[in-house]
Amino acid sequence: MKHSQATLSSTNLARLRIHDLTPTVDHFREEVIAGLQQPQKTLPSKFLYDKRGSELFDHICELPEYYPTRTELSVMRLHVDEMAAFIGEQSMIIEYGSGSSVKSRLLLNALQNPAAYVPVDISRDYLLKIAATLAEDYPNMEILPVCADYTAHLEVPEAHTPIDRRCVYFPGSTLGNYHPNEAAQLLQEIALVAGPGGGLLLGLDLKKDPQILHRAYNDQRGITAAFNLNLLTRINRELGANFNLDHFHHYAPYNPHYGRVEMHIASLGCQQIHLGEHEIPFQVGETIWTECSYKYTVDEFTALAASAGLIVEQVWTDECHLFSIQYLTVKA
Ligand code: AVJ
Repeated sequence: MKHSQATLSSTNLARLRIHDLTPTVDHFREEVIAGLQQPQKTLPSKFLYDKRGSELFDHICELPEYYPTRTELSVMRLHVDEMAAFIGEQSMIIEYGSGSSVKSRLLLNALQNPAAYVPVDISRDYLLKIAATLAEDYPNMEILPVCADYTAHLEVPEAHTPIDRRCVYFPGSTLGNYHPNEAAQLLQEIALVAGPGGGLLLGLDLKKDPQILHRAYNDQRGITAAFNLNLLTRINRELGANFNLDHFHHYAPYNPHYGRVEMHIASLGCQQIHLGEHEIPFQVGETIWTECSYKYTVDEFTALAASAGLIVEQVWTDECHLFSIQYLTVKA
């Protein structure tokens, strides 16, 4: 890990310091090879988000079938003042995976005297861009960007202003991409970061009609398929593999037993792929598992959160109960 502080050159942004905990070693090759050698070939979903993947994901968020982004925003717009009241004054907002700042801005605008905003993201360039515009738009709030993988232990930067409460903001139902045992660990880590009396404002997708879920991950225009298959393009480009995209298909069923959407890349035939000195065999119909997206009922999630020392204080949802935003506090 590299621990350095880079300061922006522009004079009006001189106060913006990035706490850089970017891993310097890239484990992409090792993780891909290890993943493709497992009996159920698996690749971590974080690898879906290269430049093209992030663009395709932004496109997914606009699709008529992909209800989560739109629904979360509408719940946010309706109830953001109540959310702000739970968080209170003089707070520090620590945002995990500070993707598009649309939701963050809604929250920051509603808060009374927010003291500091800490966007945490693994993508350094993106983080700097977001932090720089926020610093201009919110001159009275400290902006303390941290470039890090939030699943590792997160060091929260010190603010100059006194802080009454730390609140982690984790929107987008990204917690759903972790298996429940991993999600519980991440929630424990969040409880440590927020500290005693701290909070968590969480966006979480809910269980619903499997048809709605199926359509959300199998859109008509094939954007989700392109997002998924782009991982093979990335592996071809960055690791010199020879995946032929015409010989693989997107496959994303909802598994009601596990309450999760499983996204796979399926091999249409029996084939061999070359990746450096490695030969990767595929049987017809064999898959690479690229993502899971768990869905919860409010009660299921309340129990999971409690196991990590977090208490659900309030749940806001849309009228169709598609998506929830929840405010949790750290058990004293
Ligand atoms: C934003 C990561 C939660 O699981 O719904 C969208 C990612 N994958 N379509 C989700 C995603 C396929 C999304 N997350």
